[in-house]
Amino acid sequence: MEYKNILFTVEDGVATLTFNRPKALNAMNSETMAELQSAVTHCKNDEGIKVLILTGAGEKAFVAGADIAQMQEMKPHQALAFMEMGQETLRLLETMPKPSIAAVNGYALGGGTEISLACDIRFASEKAVFGQPEILIGIIPGWGGTQRLPRIVGMGRAKELIMGGEQIDARRAYEIGLVNRIYPADQLLAETRKFALKLTGLPGFALKMAKHSTNFGYDLALDNATRLEAECCAQCFSTDDQKEGMDAFLKKRKPLFTGR
Ligand code: CAA
Repeated sequence: MEYKNILFTVEDGVATLTFNRPKALNAMNSETMAELQSAVTHCKNDEGIKVLILTGAGEKAFVAGADIAQMQEMKPHQALAFMEMGQETLRLLETMPKPSIAAVNGYALGGGTEISLACDIRFASEKAVFGQPEILIGIIPGWGGTQRLPRIVGMGRAKELIMGGEQIDARRAYEIGLVNRIYPADQLLAETRKFALKLTGLPGFALKMAKHSTNFGYDLALDNATRLEAECCAQCFSTDDQKEGMDAFLKKRKPLFTGR
C-alpha cells in the first residue's frame, strides 16, 4: 500500500511509523486509519521487523484525535463503522506479536491517547499532553478509551479524564501510570530508538510469549490466566534462545540470541 498520511521506515529491525498530517495536528481520518492498519499488518508479517515505534510529525502533536471535520456529518451507522475500524486496527496493534512503543511527542488527545493505549509501552516528551476530550464535543471515546484507560490508570482516574474532558501534561500522565518514561523533547525519539534497539537483541519468541500471556491472561480468571502463563513459558523451552540464555548465564558469558 502506498502511504499518504503516514511515514514508514525500517532500520536495524526497528520500524518507525510517523503520523504525518501536521497541518491537522495529525488527526486521524479513515484514510490514515487504513494506512495504520496496513502498516501494522506489515510489521506483524515481516520477520525483519522486531519492534514498532509510533510517533507524530511536526512540533506540536502525536495525534490530536479522530478527525472532527470528517466525523461532523456522520450518521450513527457511519460513526459505528468509523469506530469499529479504529477498534479493529488498535486491537491488531495491541495483539501484534512484537513490541510497540508510542513516542508521544505532543498532543495525544482522544484517538491519540487511544492509539498510545494500544501500544505496549508509552514514552513521552516533556511537551506531551494527554486527554479524552470527546465529552466536550458531545461524544465519548470510540477507539477503546473507556476500556483500556481504566485498565492502565484505574477506574477513578479514567472516569475523571473521560467525564471531565481535561487535558493532562506529561508529568501528571507519569504520576498516574499512563506514561512509562518522560524525556526532553529533543531526546524522545533517540531514547525511544535506543530502548527499541535493546529489545531487538532480546529473544523474539520469549517477547512474543510475554506479550501473549499478558494480553490474553489479563481478562481471564486467575487460575486460567496462570495456566496460560505456564504454557507460554513452557513453549519458550522449545527455542535455541532458551538454551543459549541459560547456558550463557551458567557459564558467566554474554548470550548471543539468534531469534530461533
Ligand atoms: N480533527 C480535525 N482537525 C483538527 C483536530 C481534530 N481532532 N485537532 C486539530 N485540528 C486542526 C484544527 O482544526 C486546525 O485546523 P485549521 O488550521 O485548518 O484551523 C489545526 O488542526 C490546528 O489546530 P488548532 O488551531 O486548534 O491548534 P491549537 O494549538 O490552538 O490547539 C489542540 C491544539 C488543543 C490540540 C486543539 O486543536 C484541539 O483541541 N483539538 C481537538 C482535540 C479533540 O477534541 N480530540 C478528540 C477528537 S474525538 C475522538 O478522538 C473520538 C474517538 O475516540 C475516536
